[in-house]
Amino acid sequence: MDCIINRRAQFSASHRYWLPELSEAENRERFGRCANAPGHGHNYELIVSMAGQLDEFGMVLNLSDIKHDIKREVTGQLDFSYLNDVWPEFSQTLPTTENIAKVVWERLESHLPLVQIRLYEHAELWADYYGNGNEVYFSIGTHFNAARRLAIPGASDDENERIYGKGARPYGHGHNYHLEVTVKGEMDDRTGMSVDLGALLDLVGDRVEEVFDHTFLNYDIPYFAEGIVPTHENFALRIRDILEAPIAELGATLHKLKLIESAGTACEVFGTQVAEPFPQTVAQRRVVAAG
Ligand code: NI
Repeated sequence: MDCIINRRAQFSASHRYWLPELSEAENRERFGRCANAPGHGHNYELIVSMAGQLDEFGMVLNLSDIKHDIKREVTGQLDFSYLNDVWPEFSQTLPTTENIAKVVWERLESHLPLVQIRLYEHAELWADYYGNGNEVYFSIGTHFNAARRLAIPGASDDENERIYGKGARPYGHGHNYHLEVTVKGEMDDRTGMSVDLGALLDLVGDRVEEVFDHTFLNYDIPYFAEGIVPTHENFALRIRDILEAPIAELGATLHKLKLIESAGTACEVFGTQVAEPFPQTVAQRRVVAAG
């Protein structure tokens, strides 16, 4: 039986987005505040996922060995470092979240049976790497609030309550929505970026947050006012339709949206071009192929 086990580790490090072959103005235009000297720092959170069969002691791997491997090969070297100088890989390709995830994979793969590396720069920005060349999954999170009522126009209150329960109460209810947007892209060998982060943040800010925040979906948003019931499934699919084309214009692919409406309820939808929704299946195939 295959099990996937996760180990979490943390490190704090600084970095600067600066390419010496570009002028000061070009660096500023491309990287904005991230080009500021001497740099800035993050408290990174690293999740290392590994897979394998259970041994005679009921473990995939000895947790103490994993902990020491990660510390010796990664966090012990990166913690309290200036990333641009600490590893030669980061002079070749800037230490972006995506590239750090990739290089961590490369440094650990001969020691541990990796299936996924996830690196959080902070709670609302992270990268996932699965060992496939320069292919990375990059995610941002955002919040907005909206009210809604779940009711089929023209149906009676009793009928709507039978279908949607408390969601059909006549004066509506509200949610603090949390949205996670994951795009898939090819990381640039020099900048370490898979998508223009500023452009992606602007896109989600302008087309989703600004549009839906502090609205009553059923009345303020024409799509729902026309009679589409704003369930979180319909809402997630609507956001996908809004974001997919402009994300493609940024040179990336919308992979997944996760719309979290409460601590207990979330909906995930995948981009229309996604043939293989769960990249973990890629990782699991590697495990099977490796025997
Ligand atoms: Ni940074």
